[in-house]
Amino acid sequence: LTGPQRTGEMMKVWSFILLLSWFTLQLDANPGLKVRITQKGLDFGKEIGMEILKERIKEESFPDWNDSEKFGLSEINYHLSGIRIDTIEFPNTAISLIPGTGIKLTIENAYVIIKANWNIRSWMFKGSGRTTVVISGVSITAMLVMSMDSTGHPSISLDSCQMIASGVEVKLHGKNSWFYNMFTKFLKKSIHRILDSNSCPNLRQEIEIIDMELRILQILMQIDDFAQIDYSLVKSPAVFQSYIDLDLQGTTYPVGNYPAHPYVPVPFALQDSSDSMLYLAVSKYSFQTTVFAYYTTGAFNIIVTDEVCSYFNITTETFGSIIPEVAQYYAESQPVMLNLTATKTPVISLQTDAFTIEIHGSVEVLAVLPDATTQSLFTVNITTNSSINLTLFDQKLIGSLCLNRFQLSLADSNLGFFEISLLENFFFYILHSEIIPSANAKLTKGFPLPNLANISLKKPLIKVEQGYLWISTDVNYEQ
Ligand SMILES: *[C@@H]1O[C@H](CO)[C@@H](O)[C@H](O)[C@H]1NC(C)=O
Ligand SMILES: *[C@@H]1O[C@H](CO)[C@@H](O)[C@H](O)[C@H]1NC(C)=O
Ligand SMILES: *[C@@H]1O[C@H](CO)[C@@H](O)[C@H](O)[C@H]1NC(C)=O
Ligand SMILES: *[C@@H]1O[C@H](CO)[C@@H](O)[C@H](O)[C@H]1NC(C)=O
Ligand SMILES: *[C@@H]1O[C@H](CO)[C@@H](O)[C@H](O)[C@H]1NC(C)=O
Ligand SMILES: *[C@@H]1O[C@H](CO)[C@@H](O)[C@H](O)[C@H]1NC(C)=O
Ligand SMILES: *[C@@H]1O[C@H](CO)[C@@H](O)[C@H](O)[C@H]1NC(C)=O
Repeated sequence: LTGPQRTGEMMKVWSFILLLSWFTLQLDANPGLKVRITQKGLDFGKEIGMEILKERIKEESFPDWNDSEKFGLSEINYHLSGIRIDTIEFPNTAISLIPGTGIKLTIENAYVIIKANWNIRSWMFKGSGRTTVVISGVSITAMLVMSMDSTGHPSISLDSCQMIASGVEVKLHGKNSWFYNMFTKFLKKSIHRILDSNSCPNLRQEIEIIDMELRILQILMQIDDFAQIDYSLVKSPAVFQSYIDLDLQGTTYPVGNYPAHPYVPVPFALQDSSDSMLYLAVSKYSFQTTVFAYYTTGAFNIIVTDEVCSYFNITTETFGSIIPEVAQYYAESQPVMLNLTATKTPVISLQTDAFTIEIHGSVEVLAVLPDATTQSLFTVNITTNSSINLTLFDQKLIGSLCLNRFQLSLADSNLGFFEISLLENFFFYILHSEIIPSANAKLTKGFPLPNLANISLKKPLIKVEQGYLWISTDVNYEQ
């Protein structure tokens, strides 16, 4: 009834959301990410699990089976081969949460019809044919416990398991089967023996395999060439009446590098919601470490030149028309290059319904001379505040920036002092037509959500709360 592979597949689907990548660098910390799997999500996983289980079981082949029984003075040998499951039904299954304890799985009134070739022999007689075995009234009650191992991986174990099968019917077909049907009580007896002794140990073995898989899951999930995110658990999964909460690290690091960052996760609590199958909450801390990782890799530094500026040519002439001093220095029009540098880590803010990022930087404006050398004209400090609009597409969280406002100040000038407000329109235009669109184009690559095999999000909703963002969603399974 329970082959290793089948149970493995079944549990894989049931624990589909647990198959996130988890590892840890620090224990007992506050989480940066929270994942909530609700009763509705578990029920959905269970339904799919049962369907998949049925299909797989029917495709599976089983090893031949031999047994023998003393009968009077002789011994009768049974042999079953070509064992196939013809029908399997799980009319009543349930998965429920026992707060503070674990997940209870119950299967009631399951039945299985098995077809096989039989062969019965003793020194006196020998017969063979086809057989139908019906096992009915199968009930299984299993309690699964989730925890975290010493390295922060999730762990799952079978705490207890009972199984009973109330009915076993064996019918032999073939030549003289009326005679051999007299011996089916022995077959029934050994089937009962096998069911009683083997099913739960098999289940335990399967859970151990899943546990091993969970413990060797990928450490970090790559966002792109520059950054990776740590999805390890910071504490054992917490089981409540109608959901399981998983607290994950959610720290982003530059690839291959773990620079100390100054951010500390702040405790945050999700609302007591369980209407969707799945909730994912990303804290300000997670976003801030992401921004920090990109900042340290120089992702916020941009050079704007003639070639990349698609709307107009920026030249000393362009600037000369705004700032008369520039025109005086450059009689001949020279191309201009803008060197944008973030001067400190951009700051993230999450307020109810408002997700913003503030970037502090400097822009050095340089003339590119015919011999390819550059001459600095002036440097302005710039602070931009932009809204981040988030959408979910193709299992990715995609952001887009919308400039709220910016502030300029003159930091350095080789042209002497000039009124900085003269440059406001120019910078507004450059930000709007070049910088923000090119940043948005990069952002469309998106932030990958944990990969859930063949599971897609259905009508996800994104909500920004004080200190965190959360996604509530149902899921679809596509085979
Ligand atoms: C099982 O029984 C069959 C038929 O009697 C025999 O050919 C086969 O070798 C036996 N296998 C084992 C493992 O005993
Ligand atoms: C930019 O300058 C090039 C020549 O350097 C010219 O071909 C092109 O039309 C100019 N583009 C705009 C938008 O003025
Ligand atoms: C741009 O500015 C940064 C910081 O001032 C500097 O390190 C870098 O060399 C500059 N790049 C160019 C091409 O001038
Ligand atoms: C951006 O501006 C808004 C509106 O003034 C403000 O609430 C928010 O805190 C600012 N963002 C940052 C990161 O400072
Ligand atoms: C965010 O997206 C929504 C819908 O996609 C749009 O209505 C809204 O204007 C966008 N906001 C910003 C600040 O881009
Ligand atoms: C410009 O920014 C730099 C670096 O953040 C800072 O040291 C300098 O004081 C700023 N200058 C002005 C005029 O704001
Ligand atoms: C996912 O779907 C593909 C076909 O699209 C299928 O081959 C594969 O077995 C499915 N995987 C799981 C885990 O169901």
